[in-house]
Amino acid sequence: MGLKQTKFILPDERIPHAWYNIAADLPVPLPPPLHPGTGQPIGPDDLAPLFPMALIGQEVSAERDIEIPEPVRQAYASYRPSPLYRAHGLERALGTSAKIFYKYEGVSPAGSHKPNTAIAQAFYNKDAGVTRLATETGAGQWGTALSIAGALFGLEVKVYMVRASYDQKPYRRILMETYGGQVVASPSPDTNFGRKVLAATPDSPGSLGIAISEAVEDAATRDDTKYSLGSVLNHVLMHQTVIGIEALEQMAMAGEQPDVVVACAGGGSNFAGLTFPFAGQKLRGEADYRIIAVEPEAAPSLTRGTYRYDFGDTGQMTPLVKMHTLGHGFIPEPIHAGGLRYHGMAPLVSLLKDQGIIEAQAVHQTRSFEAGVLFARSEGILPAPESSHAIAAIVGLAREANAAGTSPVLLFNLSGHGHFDLSAYERYLSGAMQDYELPDDALAESLAGLEGLPV
Ligand SMILES: Cc1ncc(COP(=O)(O)O)c(C=O)c1O
Repeated sequence: MGLKQTKFILPDERIPHAWYNIAADLPVPLPPPLHPGTGQPIGPDDLAPLFPMALIGQEVSAERDIEIPEPVRQAYASYRPSPLYRAHGLERALGTSAKIFYKYEGVSPAGSHKPNTAIAQAFYNKDAGVTRLATETGAGQWGTALSIAGALFGLEVKVYMVRASYDQKPYRRILMETYGGQVVASPSPDTNFGRKVLAATPDSPGSLGIAISEAVEDAATRDDTKYSLGSVLNHVLMHQTVIGIEALEQMAMAGEQPDVVVACAGGGSNFAGLTFPFAGQKLRGEADYRIIAVEPEAAPSLTRGTYRYDFGDTGQMTPLVKMHTLGHGFIPEPIHAGGLRYHGMAPLVSLLKDQGIIEAQAVHQTRSFEAGVLFARSEGILPAPESSHAIAAIVGLAREANAAGTSPVLLFNLSGHGHFDLSAYERYLSGAMQDYELPDDALAESLAGLEGLPV
C-alpha cells in the first residue's frame, strides 16, 4: 500500500501575486474610524504620523486584489508557500470519521504567521524613507517577526513587550534582540503613558492595550519613526490572506472542500488570513462554509463583548473603531496564550460576526492545552498556546461528528509553534494551570468605561 498523502506543497512560484481585500465583498460598509479627540471620521492625513501612505491607502481600499510587491514575495519565499497537512495522526487519536486539515504557519523564521505582514510593513516603510519602527508585542511573536523584517529591510525596531510575557518568556526577548530589536517591558519608563501607568500600578502585568499606547506615543513624537501593528487593522488582516489563498489551492490539490474553517482570534489576523478568502466565496455566493473564530474565556471579546466604537489602546490615543470590545480599560488575566489577551477585535472580523457570516466560541486555557498536548503527541508538532484554541474547537467538532455519525471536512490554522512556550506546558503538565472565567461584574465595570463614546 502506498503512503497516505500528508503534506500538500506548492512551489515558490505559487506564492500569491495579490492579497485579497474582503472590503470589496462586504454585505454592508465598514463603519469608518473616528478621530479620538473630535469623534469625526478620520482621513488619510490623520494617520500620516503613524503609517506610510501606501499602508494608509490599503487600509481604506475597496479593491478586491492588491498586488504584492516582488521584494515582499521574494522575502516570503524563505518560508512560503507554507504546507497544508492532513492530520492523519490526530484523526486516528480521536477515532474520528472527520477529515482534518491544517495550514502550518509555524514554518516561518519567527515561528508564526506574523511575518506575513511584518515583511510587507517593513517594505512599505523602508520605501517611504522611514528608518525606525515602534511596536507592541504580547507573546513576543509579533515583536520577533518585526525584528526579523526590520533586519531584512534595514530598519531599527523598538518593541514594547507586555510585562507578563516579558517575565514569562525571556527567550523571546533574547530572540528579538538577536535580530536587532530593542525590547523594553511595558508599562515602561520610556514613555509618558508608561510612566503614568507605573505610578498608579507599579506591579502592572501590562496588556496589549497599554503597550500599543506606548508604541503609538513613541511613533507620534519622533520624526524618524512610524508605528507598526501586528493585528486588528484592515491592511494587516489583508496581508495575512496569503494563508487562505494558498489553502484554497492546497485543499483543491487534496480533492476536498472544507465544511468548517477554524482559527484562533486575538486581534483577528491569523483568523482573517485563513478564513477571509473562504468568506469571500461565501459572500459572493460561490460556496458555503461554517467559519469559526476561537477565543479564550479570559478575554472573550467576540462572545461576551459589545459591538460599538472603542479605542484600540488603553491610553485612548488610537482612532475609535467599531468592534467587539471588552472596554479599552480591560486588563485580561495573564493567561499563557499571550497573543490572545486583547480587549478588542479587528473591525472586519467584528462586522462579519455581527452580520452572522462567522461564528465565535470561547475556550478555557486548560481545555486548549489538553488539545495542544493531544496534537503534539499525535501529529508531532508542538502548537503555540494561541493555536491550541483552534485545535480545541476542532477536537470538539470531530467528537460531535462521531456522535452524529457524519464525516465533515475540517480545516484550521496552526498559526505557530510553541517552542518558546515550554514554561506554560510545564504548568499544564504539572497540574498547576488554572482556568479563569471573566466575572460578569468585572465585564460590566469595564464596559461602563465606554459611556459617552459614539455607538
Ligand atoms: C501563534 C499566534 N497565534 C495567534 C495569535 C493571535 O493574534 P491574531 O489574532 O492577530 O492572529 C498570536 C499573537 O501573538 C500568535 O503569536
